[in-house]
Amino acid sequence: MNPFVSENITIYNTDNTKLFPLLKTKQFDLGILDPPYGIGVGKMAYLKEKNTVVVQKNGNKLNPNRNKKGYKNKDWDNEIPTYHYWRENFRISKNYMVFGANYFPELVGKPFLPPKRHQFSTFLLEHPTGWIIWDKMNGGNDFNDCELIKTSLNFKSYVLQYMWCGMMQGSRLDGTKQEGNKKLNEKRIHPTQKPTRLYELLLAKHLQNGGGIFDAGIGSGSLAEAVQNLNNLFHAQYTLVACEKETDYFNLLVKRLQGKPKQLSIKI
Ligand SMILES: C[S@@+](CC[C@H](N)C(=O)[O-])C[C@H]1O[C@@H](n2cnc3c(N)ncnc32)[C@H](O)[C@@H]1O
Repeated sequence: MNPFVSENITIYNTDNTKLFPLLKTKQFDLGILDPPYGIGVGKMAYLKEKNTVVVQKNGNKLNPNRNKKGYKNKDWDNEIPTYHYWRENFRISKNYMVFGANYFPELVGKPFLPPKRHQFSTFLLEHPTGWIIWDKMNGGNDFNDCELIKTSLNFKSYVLQYMWCGMMQGSRLDGTKQEGNKKLNEKRIHPTQKPTRLYELLLAKHLQNGGGIFDAGIGSGSLAEAVQNLNNLFHAQYTLVACEKETDYFNLLVKRLQGKPKQLSIKI
């Protein structure tokens, strides 16, 4: 296991089953997990789709995927994680935050689809604590309106709006508004990449004083980039241990993290 190491971040190019035995019980403050949903997303046709039309609030039609490069077909999303995955994650981290939790019987019993936007308030009433509805603000397209994040933390469930739909990405200052300068958009290198800014917001709110984080399948490395940003820009004190079994993704994320200047400059 030859890891990528940079300051407070260590990422292994390995299957998480090989890493779990090396990790101590309650070693991490928060496991931020985005496991395979078992819906074969790594091979879905939409990854090569270039004609997705989004209807904006003002009625304009946009095609956010016009210039998209296709991703390679991969098998990693064919199956949901095993009981062993959950048992080990609950052992090594004091708390968890799981994307797509609604797909996993270990967390919700019977799996269910995420709510549509008009069902958000009912969902919040029925799930009053520990849930975050990530509203992707994707206008009128066919994809899910949100992703559900379930946590073991004790807070009032809420909706977090952050635009994430092809080239329509939220701006850093206000994630509900589209970034006008597309050069500032995050480059996508993974089919289920989460926005770095989203991870920054989650960490700043739910792990305010810094702490140890674990990710059992880090994909594009957005979480690592968020940790780098918060540590470098705001002198936060996060440490991250993570792994990614696909060597293609691992190489891309290393390139992404190494290519980042240490101090971001802010243009006024
Ligand atoms: C849903 S994606 C994570 C996306 C990530 N949150 C991001 O922002 O890019 C799940 C990732 O877990 C990886 N993965 C799946 N099974 C794994 C395993 N057993 N060990 C390590 N990584 C695994 C997949 O290759 C995939 O990149």
